[in-house]
Formats: sequence, structure tokens, C-alpha cells
Amino acid sequence: MSQERITTLLTDSRSYLPPEHGRTSAWICGPEEYDELCRRALEDPSDFWGARASQLIHWFKRWDKVLEADDAHHKYKWFTGAKLNASFNCIDRHLISGRRNKAALIWQGEKETDVRCYTYQMLYTEVCRVAHALSSLHIRKGDHVALYMPMIPELFIAMLACARIGAIHTAIFSGYAEGGVRSRIQGCRARVVITADAAVRSGKIKPLKANLDPILEKCPSVGHVVVVRNAGLENVNMQRKRDTWWHDLMDDFTLNPDFPCEPMDANDTLFLLHTSGSTGKPTGVMHATGGYLTYAAHTTQWCFDMRDDDVYWCTADAGWITGHTYGLYGPLALGATTIMFEGVPTWPYPDRYWRIVENFRVNILYTAPTVIRSLMRMNEAWTERYDLRSLRILGTVGEPINPEAWRWFYEHIGNEELPIVDTWWQTETGGAMIAPIPYATKLKPGSATKPLPGIDAAIIGSAGRDGDEAEEGAKAGHLVIRRPWPGMMQGVYCDEEKYQSYFSRFGCYSSGDAAEVDSDGYFWILGRVDDSINVSGHRLSTAEIEAVLAACPEVGEAAVVPMPHALKGEGIYAYVVTRDEVPWSSSLRVKLRDTVRRDIGALATPEYIQFVEAMPKTTSGKVIRRMLRKIAGDSHEEIGDTTSLANPEALAAIIAGHNNLVAGRHETENAPDEEESSTI
Ligand code: WTA
Repeated sequence: MSQERITTLLTDSRSYLPPEHGRTSAWICGPEEYDELCRRALEDPSDFWGARASQLIHWFKRWDKVLEADDAHHKYKWFTGAKLNASFNCIDRHLISGRRNKAALIWQGEKETDVRCYTYQMLYTEVCRVAHALSSLHIRKGDHVALYMPMIPELFIAMLACARIGAIHTAIFSGYAEGGVRSRIQGCRARVVITADAAVRSGKIKPLKANLDPILEKCPSVGHVVVVRNAGLENVNMQRKRDTWWHDLMDDFTLNPDFPCEPMDANDTLFLLHTSGSTGKPTGVMHATGGYLTYAAHTTQWCFDMRDDDVYWCTADAGWITGHTYGLYGPLALGATTIMFEGVPTWPYPDRYWRIVENFRVNILYTAPTVIRSLMRMNEAWTERYDLRSLRILGTVGEPINPEAWRWFYEHIGNEELPIVDTWWQTETGGAMIAPIPYATKLKPGSATKPLPGIDAAIIGSAGRDGDEAEEGAKAGHLVIRRPWPGMMQGVYCDEEKYQSYFSRFGCYSSGDAAEVDSDGYFWILGRVDDSINVSGHRLSTAEIEAVLAACPEVGEAAVVPMPHALKGEGIYAYVVTRDEVPWSSSLRVKLRDTVRRDIGALATPEYIQFVEAMPKTTSGKVIRRMLRKIAGDSHEEIGDTTSLANPEALAAIIAGHNNLVAGRHETENAPDEEESSTI
């Protein structure tokens, strides 16, 4: 992250007090109560988490121990000996608590007139049917099911059906293309894949099943594919024996749909979700049923002050962790009404969000800074014509929010009175870790404020975006969590070494983010210190993109780094050394760009591809990415000491090449297209 951006983030010194109105009926009514909860949670964690688990979750059998910790191996088991089922907690128990006919899920399709609403009873019936159907495909407890689906109700229904059986679901973002999907299906060894004929995005049809077919040739574990008819595509190629239409399969289970919930051990895996790590291989983060569900419900209740009659909308795609925790599991565990939207914020007009808020009287809106930035560029008339008075709480996640976006959200959407909860967390943490409590925390735009009760966050060492070197006088350090919490991942699938790497450096959980704490104890997240790039709030791995580039026959070497981007937060900048004799050309640049896009997905498309003669390297031959980042970020004056370079002469040429490339930015080949910018 460039120094300039950090400075912008830190310069808004105004703070905003929590609202008085509504405070007395809040779950946490003020700073004193928050302080007291923090004190109690750290003093006696078992008592604190045990009490939350009893209040929020229905257990078939109570735990023997709240936490069994093996500090030497960084293994933490929550609620050992307990039994529960996530599907039961998200559906069945609400049927007998007076919520049977309450809306559990409201779905707004990309087409304005496509709306579906499921009451808790209807959701129950659907989930049971799908559980029967999966069971007829011989899916049992512990089996893996991959979900490559757009934002349609069948996705949540499939997740809950897996949870009901005890099967482990792995959602794959529907914007991923071939390589991204293949590595994730192979990475979880899925036996069944559920998909759709196509996704509908910005009025365009994006085939999913047809994408999947060639991928499956390299995924021998997959025995069945279930296809939802979503876009009404004709001529979908269905392979005999392997492929079934969702509706045909479900037809067999219209009578007597009850499907009993599998009693799961608290430490049985609920789901696997891949995130980007420091290698080309995605990290299969595993979450345990008991700890994860408790933490999802706990943070949903406190961070959004969720009340029983709230209509709640988390705009994140369920292919990411936010959609899991705050789209599905958290709100439904609390018996709330959750909204799901198939489309994008700006199509056909940039008023989709505000229409949905008005139509369904949304009370809580949780979205990403990148969405806010894309909407604030539009004419104010797009927000002004809608009645947004139902809103009570706003939230953001995924990346630091710049004060300009914060203020726009606060003024135009929040009418200068609604709290904005800026929640910092990660796939690995399961739920929010550092976040305001709406009626208790004073807000400072750009800061995720303070750790939630029970979360022992700290800054260790000295770190910036540029790696691990201690910069003199730097206040920023590595953001770590010193004690276990129930939402923490239980492991990395088939990669113990990777799991241990989160703990090896500091002896406690290291987030991979750099952060700073101010004199009020407020945390300011500065960005990743590892090789992840955060594009529109989505985590991508530089290594994964480099691997795709390096596999092209024209490419000798590739290095990918983040660059600041006004809309997406960060963009992707690739440096490429071509093989001998391969000339640099615009057509090669287009080819490389399309290769990345086809292989990983539109959101991984590089903003710039710069051809270079040689990478800056150490004498031992290691590429010095820190310098490449500075150049990509237009901060070459900050490159600093170059004495470690084996080839200092390469640097000047790279800087000159960068300047030329940026000056020629309007070359059409590099213009970001609609599909990329709609991957939010
Ligand atoms: C970044 C998404 C600043 C951070 C839930 C983290 C944030 C990565 C914030 C995790 C925030 C997330 N402020 N940065 N409020 N929230 N991040 O795993 O760099 O997709 O490490 O989880 O997003 O991304 P992931």
C-alpha cells in the first residue's frame, strides 16, 4: 500500500458518537457495558463463550469442555463432546419458536420482477428434499460437495441440505473460470458438484455447466453433477448417468420430505472454503460446526444489533466467507429474515440497492467499500428518489474504507445518523474480529475500531506492506490474535504445514495484515503483508496469477504485485519477461490478459502487463517484489536502498517502461471492461 493511501486513511480525525435513540433496547447499550464484557471475556473465556453458546445455539448434547487447547501444536477444539446440527439451528428450531411463517429468505433476482420468498417452513421443506436427493446420490456424513452456483436460493438451500446430512460443502465463486474451479474441486475431492445452467450478470448469460464439463475431465472424484435450471439455456449437454437436472431429482421427493438432522460432533467440519494464500494453490480453510456456528450467531447479534423483526441484507456473494457467515449462517441461526440478490449494484441502473432497501424495508445493510465507491460516483438522484428510512445500521467489510466513501455512505445512505460498522475479519477467523458495536462504539472513519469482547488482538513487530523489514520509526506492525476464539478455522484441508505457518512466526495466530493502533486503542488496518491482493474486497493470490502467466509458452518469468486502484481498492499489475526471441507486442499483452481471465476469472484480470528485460533480483536470484510494488504504485522515489540488487541497471528501465505504460493507459486493450467491474 502506498504511503499516500495510508496517509489519506489516517487523516480524518473526526469521530462519531453512537446514536442515543434506540440505545436502551440494544443488545449492548453503551461503552460501559462493552468494557465490562471485554473484561469478563478475557478474565474467564470459558465462562464467556460457554454462556454465549448456550444462549445462541440449540445443542443436542452439551459439551464436556468449552475449549480443549493444545498450545504446543496450535490446535483448539471448541465445545468438545457436544452435538448439534447447523441446519437444525438455522431452520427446525424456529418452526417451534413462532417463526414458522416468518420470511427466512427473500430472493431478488437480477430481473426486477423475479422475487421469491421462503418462510422458515418452506425452507425446511426444500432443504429436506435436497437432503433426500443428495442422500439418493449416496452422499453421507463427511462427504464433500462442491457448489459452483450463482446467487440463487438453491445455493443456500444446498448449503443447508449438506449441513443437515453432515456433508461438507465447498462453495466456489461463480465468477471463477477454469483453473480457479478445477483447483478448488480437486482441492476438496468433491463427490458431487451442484451447479446451474448459467449465471445471469448485468443482463448477460454466463454459462456455468458448459464451463464445468472440461474441468470435470480432470476431477475423477466427481461422480454426479446436479444442474439447476436458472437461465433457461437450451441445449445444455447432460452426460448420461453423471448429470441430473435439479428439478428432476427433487421430483422424487415431494411426499414426506422430512429428513432428520445428523447429530454432528461440535468439531466435525461444517464446510471448507478456499482462500488465497502465499502459494499458487488455494488454501482450503476448514470450519468446525460448533465453534463456527456459535461465533457466526454471536457476532451477527452483537455487531449488527440484530433484533427479531429486522430485515437484514448482506450483499456479499455466498462464494466468499462473508456470504457464508453473514448471508446465511449468522442471520438464520438467529431466526432473522435474510435477503439474497442475484444481480450487481449498477445494472440496469445504479439504483438496484436502494430499490431493494425500499421494497423490502431493509433495516441492516452490510456491503463492501468497493460497492460504495462505485455507487458514489453516480448522480445523487439515484439515491434521493428512494425511501431509505427503514435502515437502522450500516456495515462494511473486505478492505479498509477510505474516509470519502465512509462519509458518502454516512450522509447519503445513513442520513448522518446511522452507525457504520466497519468489520475486520478473514476467511480464517470465521466472523468479525475487530468491529464497532453499533450503540456502544464511537466511530472513526477508516478504522475498524476495537476488538470484539473476547478477541485478544495485538500488534507485534514492525511491518509495512513492503514486507517484514523494520522501518525506522514505523508504528505499524503485524496484526495478531493472541488467544483462541470459537470462530477460528480448525485446520487447512490436507495441508498441516500451511495451517502451522499461521502460528509459526509469532506463536499465536498471525493475520497476514499490517495494522496500527492509535492512542485510543483503535485499530487501523493497512493491508496485507503477504502476497495476497485485495481486489474489490476479494482476496487473490499473486502466486496463482503468476503461475498462469508463467505457463504461457511466450513467458520466461512473471511477477505480480498489487497497485492502488481508485474503485477496486487494489488492482493487479504484472511484470513479464518474455522468452528469448519473443517480441513484446500489444497482441501478446492481450493474449496474456485473456489467459489469466479465462483461467482464473474476470476479477483476476491484470490492469497492466509490463514487459521487462529483467526483474530486479538479489544476488541469490530472488525477485525483489517490494521494488516492483513501489514502481507499480507510482512511488519509485520510495524504493530506497538498492545495494542488495544484483542488477541495479534493470531498475531504471523498469521505471521508464512503467511510465510509458501508464501514459498510454488509454490503449483500448487495457481498458477494464464491464464484466470485470461487475465482479463485486
Ligand atoms: C481485508 C473477508 C480492512 C484484510 C472477510 C483481510 C479488511 C482480508 C477488512 C481477508 C476491513 C477484511 N478493513 N481490511 N474492515 N475486512 N479486510 O479472507 O486484508 O476474503 O486480511 O475475508 O481482507 O479477506 P477474506
